[in-house]
Amino acid sequence: MKKIKSSEITPEDIYLSRRDFLKSLGIVSASAAVLAACGPAATSATSQVSAAEAEPIDSVTPAAMADTDELGDPLNSFEDITNYNNYYEFTTDKQRVAKLSEGYKTSPWEVQVGGLVNNPKTFSLDDLRNFETEERIYRMRCVEAWSMVIPWKGFPLSKLLAEVEPKSEAKYVRFETIYDPEGMPGFKKNPWYQWPYIEGLSVDEAMHDLTLMATGLYGKDLLPQNGAPVRLVVPWKYGFKSIKSIVKIDLVTEQPTSLWMAAAPNEYGFYANVNPNVNHPRWSQASERRIGELGRRGSIMFNGYEDEVAHLYDGMDLSVNY
Ligand code: MTE
Repeated sequence: MKKIKSSEITPEDIYLSRRDFLKSLGIVSASAAVLAACGPAATSATSQVSAAEAEPIDSVTPAAMADTDELGDPLNSFEDITNYNNYYEFTTDKQRVAKLSEGYKTSPWEVQVGGLVNNPKTFSLDDLRNFETEERIYRMRCVEAWSMVIPWKGFPLSKLLAEVEPKSEAKYVRFETIYDPEGMPGFKKNPWYQWPYIEGLSVDEAMHDLTLMATGLYGKDLLPQNGAPVRLVVPWKYGFKSIKSIVKIDLVTEQPTSLWMAAAPNEYGFYANVNPNVNHPRWSQASERRIGELGRRGSIMFNGYEDEVAHLYDGMDLSVNY
């Protein structure tokens, strides 16, 4: 697959390559203007597809796909999304993750779900495929101040949690990525991190309908570089919360310490909600570079999902970096 250096691409190139890709999949383009006119409400409309309305896995066809998010921003190309990645278990070089993870075996796979639940369960790939999937076009804003618009395929985490029945004492959900130092070269190159990659959410955040277990993008199954076979996507938080290639999920009482909190507690908090008003200690969070665009654009509170999620943080001082 063609490797695009984000520094080399002009908006026209990226537009053309996106159009070519969409055309090759037979996508009939929807009008950006019409979708933009739907405004932010489209987010909740998309996110409130009920299980009954949602289509079964693999039936989310590219032909049914919009080509902008609800704010009218164009999708990033498949090439961008699969060739500019953060996946430190492979490498810290974003443009080499695709190459180094090529062919990484993600089948068979199991996700063990336990802890404070009534009904612990190990989900096989087939079990995961039994969840009805839907398409969710989300912005992803990395803490490093770059962003993309990605058409995910997946199912709400709440559906999986409903199957294991969390106990009322459970306050947080802890997620763990596969630990495979033999198969992933980044472990040995970056031994100072406390592997495996850990992330966490409060139970309320985990149950929120926007919180997605993604199994694909652009209507196809996930590739290893994007966290195959299943990863979390929490679109109102900095991208590091969206943990890849999950093997374990536990319901717990204590707030989990993520890999990033352990590595640099003064730089990375537990909540890590996108907040343009609170800078990272080493750089501004006021603006971001959308991959494929020249120049910068202003970042948005909760990455544009404020109406949907702000209530989760009532009473929290949002001028502090959590
Ligand atoms: N999950 C694991 N296991 N390892 C990682 O290095 N990087 C995070 C997140 N999930 C990471 C991870 C960061 S910093 C970002 S921005 C997103 O994945 C990037 O997702 P993408 O490569 O699919 O765009």
